[in-house]
Amino acid sequence: MENHQNAIPEELPPDKVPRHVAIIMDGNGRWARARGLPRRAGHEAGTENLRRIIRACVEFGVKVLTIYAFSTENWGRPQWEIRALMHILENVIDRELDELHQEGVQLRHLGELDRLPGNLQRKVRQAIEMTKDNDRLILNVAFNYGGRDEIVRAIRHIVEDGIPPEDIDEALVSSYLYTAGLPDPDLIIRTSGELRISNFLIWQGAYSEHYYTPTLWPDFDREEFRKALVHYIQRERRFGKLEPQTSG
Ligand code: FPP
Repeated sequence: MENHQNAIPEELPPDKVPRHVAIIMDGNGRWARARGLPRRAGHEAGTENLRRIIRACVEFGVKVLTIYAFSTENWGRPQWEIRALMHILENVIDRELDELHQEGVQLRHLGELDRLPGNLQRKVRQAIEMTKDNDRLILNVAFNYGGRDEIVRAIRHIVEDGIPPEDIDEALVSSYLYTAGLPDPDLIIRTSGELRISNFLIWQGAYSEHYYTPTLWPDFDREEFRKALVHYIQRERRFGKLEPQTSG
């Protein structure tokens, strides 16, 4: 295993790099607690790390990055923490949007926007509109997102559109999800040692490879990310078939 890993050069083979990586950025709170800091400081360090990972995606040739920033279950957290996470999203848009745009990043949102404060909804919509023609990296921000919720919403829209049952297949369902038109995630990463998918991309992730690491999100830097990609590259993907496949 180690020898194998050493055989991968610093430059990752472009045809083997996962096109779509999805990340459950977990462990901000524990990172802060270990330093005697408030949880908010952990989320700020996590945001700083997100900038590193976005840069690393561009560097390594990942085309789509999906991050789980706020789940439908996160509404159960204390009010002050919910507000802090909303502020972080707002600050990221205020402070980073111009640079992300210049770097060719296209921002998308996965989840229900309507429950967010009005000014935040407007900012998210403006950011999506401003970056919609960029194609270096697609950054999907899952914020107020839940996988089951997404499937229920898709079913409702399919029924509302009057689609006859015989026309409903996997491709049609996929086209009603927030990720319509995007490739499914090749690799799902979860930091901080939890071994759960937590309602994240449960339809799209049917054949994704998983990578779990005990590293807390704020410490999951470029090198750790690179290790996860190397790990992925060294696995064979079969999609339920016998021979290794390059795609589903
Ligand atoms: C999980 O850590 C992290 C979150 C619920 C929020 C993730 C947010 C960021 C990394 C900031 C970037 C955000 C945006 C909006 C772009 P946790 O709080 O569950 O940590 P713990 O399990 O150690 O308590």
